Amino acid sequence: MWKKWLSKMSTTKQDIYNNIDVSRLPQHIAIIMDGNGRWAQRRGLPRALGHRSGAETLREIVKTASELGIKVLTTYAFSTENWRRPADEVDLLMNLLSDYLDNEITELHNNNVQIRFIGHIDGLAVALQKKIEKAQTQTAHNTGLIFNLAVNYGGRAELTRAVKIISEKVKGRELNTEDIDESTIEAHLYTFDLPSPDLLIRPSGDFRISNFLLWQMAYTEFWFTDINWPDFKPAHFVQAIRDYQQRERRFGGIKNTKKR
Ligand code: FPP
Repeated sequence: MWKKWLSKMSTTKQDIYNNIDVSRLPQHIAIIMDGNGRWAQRRGLPRALGHRSGAETLREIVKTASELGIKVLTTYAFSTENWRRPADEVDLLMNLLSDYLDNEITELHNNNVQIRFIGHIDGLAVALQKKIEKAQTQTAHNTGLIFNLAVNYGGRAELTRAVKIISEKVKGRELNTEDIDESTIEAHLYTFDLPSPDLLIRPSGDFRISNFLLWQMAYTEFWFTDINWPDFKPAHFVQAIRDYQQRERRFGGIKNTKKR
């Protein structure tokens, strides 16, 4: 049904606004950009071309999210586990990130986008760290879309990091163990000042969370599609939002719960 709708849909702004309720947009959308390798393989192309094409999709989706007025977009570019890939693929992904920053930062800045990086950035090459720092500083005061790129990110590593920082604070008597609650954990995550994702999009047919935003996604709505990331278009993004708007979110409560 929705495929028919999608095939008819162009990606003009007009259509986008006609198909979703812009007064009830998800505040925070997370995306696992999966399927670059499979996209390339199906075309008999090297994986590198899949990743390049994936970077192009990222560009389009950030633009769409920004135009729609989404507050936060978090995309998973490189996980703590992706170091297990062959060295040439790791190098390629790092170079793509570096090129992305070179090519996109001016436009992102002009579009009032604030770029942030989440993950163990200190574990990246120094030149890349500097570029990341520069991009973050340049866009830090922008008030439009907050665009988080998760690089060298793992949900377990993020929680482990939080536990270590909190332990140090307890040791230094800055914090009492009995005062630790959920808000303490949240305050020590990379996303400490952001709302939790309302919607997770995972293309390419796998149904897993892959160590992404483990704490933050406790009540996130998931949206899956078989389409590989390089083929993922703004129309699919809009469809995910449209489907999200049909979901009933209960956060552990029951339907139509009245406050007592
Ligand atoms: C997963 O697809 C994708 C990645 C591990 C990398 C995501 C990177 C991009 C979309 C490139 C753009 C990124 C930046 C920051 C410019 P996969 O390779 O695991 O696909 P497969 O499961 O089909 O092999």
